[in-house]
Amino acid sequence: MASAASWSGRTVLDLGCGSGFHLPRFAATAGRVYGVEPHPALLRLAARRTRSLTNVSLLAGTAQAVPLPDASVDVVHARWAYFFGPGCEPGLRELARVVRRGGTAFVIDNDATRSTFGGWFRRGYPTIDPAAVERFWSAWGWTRVPLDVDWRFDSREDLEAVVRIEFTPEVAAAVLAEHEGTTVDYAVNLFWKRF
Ligand SMILES: C[S@@+](CC[C@H](N)C(=O)[O-])C[C@H]1O[C@@H](n2cnc3c(N)ncnc32)[C@H](O)[C@@H]1O
Repeated sequence: MASAASWSGRTVLDLGCGSGFHLPRFAATAGRVYGVEPHPALLRLAARRTRSLTNVSLLAGTAQAVPLPDASVDVVHARWAYFFGPGCEPGLRELARVVRRGGTAFVIDNDATRSTFGGWFRRGYPTIDPAAVERFWSAWGWTRVPLDVDWRFDSREDLEAVVRIEFTPEVAAAVLAEHEGTTVDYAVNLFWKRF
């Protein structure tokens, strides 16, 4: 992301910020950071996480109705949140409204075409067509950067607990029976667009 656009001194919007995990890192160099999140309990966790950071503001809202004025944001970050390809057009229209000319938006999502986790994802979500997702972003003028990351856990119990959050009991049991250890290779797509 940093090689595509700097957020130093800029206004950053983390859309669907969840418990705010990424907010402190943006806040370390950004001028102002907005975290927008629809779920009140997660918003409270994000507020608690960032209570000592004076340049962070938390707002209740969604990608389809961003509670910020037109042309008010330089960099948007949406990680595993709402922007999953076809169907997210209302959110894309909101990005075009809130991002300033010359600003950049980033979307991070699974690359289900490859990696161990990608194979698990295809089994867990067989109706999602990864090729259609890529075509969607390309048609809207976004650039794709394929990335390779890993899940790394301290214990097998932690890995299994997270797999059971991500998948149905049947799919979780099947993939765990086939996979040993405490790491999982995980392919990710970074999509980005300049406005
Ligand atoms: C998998 S979590 C990711 C959270 C955070 N981005 C992260 O990387 O830690 C997905 C988040 O998207 C939020 N979300 C769900 N629907 C949304 C919407 N319509 N607009 C914005 N965020 C949404 C959820 O509440 C949740 O916090």
